[in-house]
Parts: sequence; C-alpha cells; structure tokens
Amino acid sequence: MTTATTRKILLLPGDGIGPEVMKPVADLLGALSSRKVLTVEVREGLIGGAAYDRTGHPLPPETVALALDSEAVLLAAVGGPRYDTLPYEHRPERALLGIREKLGAFANLRPARLFPQLSNASTLKPEVIAGLDLLVVRELTGGIYFGSPRGIVTENGVRVGINTERYSEPEIERIARVAFTVAKSRRSRVTSVDKANVLESSVLWREVVTRVGREFPGVVLDHMYVDNAAMQLVRNPGQFDVIVTGNLFGDILSDEASQLTGSIGMLASASVGGRTGLYEPIHGSAPDIAGKDLANPSAMFLSLAMLLDHSLGETGLARTLERAVETVLGEGVRTRDIAEPGSRVVGCREMGERITGAFWTLLDKGAAKQ
Ligand code: IPM
Ligand code: MG
Repeated sequence: MTTATTRKILLLPGDGIGPEVMKPVADLLGALSSRKVLTVEVREGLIGGAAYDRTGHPLPPETVALALDSEAVLLAAVGGPRYDTLPYEHRPERALLGIREKLGAFANLRPARLFPQLSNASTLKPEVIAGLDLLVVRELTGGIYFGSPRGIVTENGVRVGINTERYSEPEIERIARVAFTVAKSRRSRVTSVDKANVLESSVLWREVVTRVGREFPGVVLDHMYVDNAAMQLVRNPGQFDVIVTGNLFGDILSDEASQLTGSIGMLASASVGGRTGLYEPIHGSAPDIAGKDLANPSAMFLSLAMLLDHSLGETGLARTLERAVETVLGEGVRTRDIAEPGSRVVGCREMGERITGAFWTLLDKGAAKQ
C-alpha cells in the first residue's frame, strides 16, 4: 500500500555489469524498507541495450513515465559492443541523454575523492593526490550536446558535420547557483572553467558566473581556461574544491578527475535540478567482465548514498553507507579492479554482502548509541 510518506524509487539496471552491481543495492533497499528504516516503493524499468532488445527503443516511453513518477532514479550502466553499430537514435547512449533531458536534470555532480585506503591505486604520485577531494559540477542538458543547428549536411557536394555550442543566461545562472550553493557546504571555492579567450558562449558564461558569484560573498571564485584546467588537474589537483563548467568540458574534465583517484569503480554521480534526481556510477557497463562476478559494486552503493542524501534528505543513512564502503576497504577486502598486493580479492557478490553487512553493523551501533 502506498502511504503519503512512501517514496518511489526507480531502478534501471541497464546493460553489461549493470544488473550485477544493481542486485546488492536493490536488496539493501528492500531490506531498508522491510525493516522500516525507510518507506520506499522500489520499481524497476528497462533502459539502454536491454530496453532496445525488448522494446526496440533504448528509452521506452514506459521508462520515462515511471521515472517522472519517481522521486529518484538509480541507474547502473548502459551500452555494449552489440549495440555499437545501431543507428544513432537507437544507441544506448541516446537513452542516457534522453532521460537526463526528460528529468530536467541539468546539474551533474561528480565528486572525485581519494579513499585513503586506495592511495596506491592512482597513477599519480601519492604526494600529488594526497587529500584529493573535488567536485565537478557539469551542466548536463545544454551546450553543444543539445544545441542546434546540428547534423550532417551536404554543402556544394561536400559533407559537413555541424554542432552548436550555446548557453543562455538562465541556463548559466542556474548551474552557477548550484555550484556556489554546494561549495558553501565544502571548502567554499569555485573554479569556473571555460574557453572565454575563443568562444562567445564562454564570454557570456564567465560574465554570468561572476555576477551570480556576488550573491555568495563567502565563496571564493576564480576562472580558468579549459586547457589550463586539464593541465592543473594533473599538476596540482589539491587546488580545486568545486569546478563548474559546461556539458562538453565537464564530460572531459570529470573523466580526468575520476582517474586521479585511480579507482573509477568507486565513484558515484548525481544529476539533479528537476523534480526527480538521477544517480549513477561514473563507470560504464564494462561488457568484458559482465556476468563473471568480477565487477565492483562500490560506486553503485555510493550512488545510492548520494540518492539518500540529495533526493530523500536521509543524510545519516547516506553517511553510514559511505562509511560501510570505507570499512570494507579498510579491512583489505577488494574487488579485482582495486586489488593490491596482500588484499583479499572477492567478487561482486561478496563485496556487496560485505558492504551491506558493514552497513547494518554501523547502523545498529549508531542506533544503540541513541
Ligand atoms: C558521461 C558519458 C556520456 C556523456 C555519454 C555516454 C553519452 O560519457 O556520462 O559522461 O557524454 O555525457
Ligand atoms: Mg563522459
């Protein structure tokens, strides 16, 4: 029965390792509900290649309807080699862009935080990445990804590929506001990344971000060209707190930032701004290891933590889940992707069980203290 306080959550396992990493997280949500820690109604939908196989479309209208009727969507991963040759409109990636747009999820938050237990995983020197904790705030529903005109046309017998980078003042204002607001709960620094020495869209971006910044006098703002930012990220990433940037630059810089931690299997993301938030690991569908019980479910758990925090306001549960992941890492338990000499290597299923176990232990301890 649905009560007024029941929150609807939609799970979209998708493709590749998606269903495997979603499984333990779905089980945890079910247990949270049956133990009455959280009143949630969990539903599941189709997306990506899995949806294409069953319905002929990577983002079926039923999935969109379910998502719009939910408070939050937890998405695992989409894509796989079987779908790479499909026409553009049927590719699994289109489903990702489509659901972001339909949900109005214009602000993509991609934290890159170094887990101290994994400091050897990075390809950078330990002293360069020590204490790394930055957040890329990427504009997600505008810019060159969505601008028109776009397409491949023939002009005087020559084929030309066209895309358009465009940002309106309101689009820049609202993403800037998200960045300044989250910065206040962090180290109060925002670096706005653009290419204002070449692009008019960036000139406007810089002007508007500067103006919005005046509403946040406690937050220090600086600006950086994107080429310099790409360089500074590997030179001295500790200088960054919040990076705010457009869709394409954010796509590139967030991959770079995630690699600084050396463990993409650990990083989650949130896409917010609309009524329904969308939460997903940063990693992809990893078709090469799908179905082999080798995937790392940590980022999926951490995506649930972001969902609990941002969409449900359950900050305590979110922190407990994050601490559960860290506890398991601290015990030297690792999936293959983050294994080190001496660590105990486990599969996706066991990693999921251990994180879940640590979560309940921490929660019971916390409850006992009260
Ligand atoms: C990401 C991905 C997507 C993007 C692709 C798969 C469409 O790279 O989420 O960063 O470019 O936004
Ligand atoms: Mg990307």
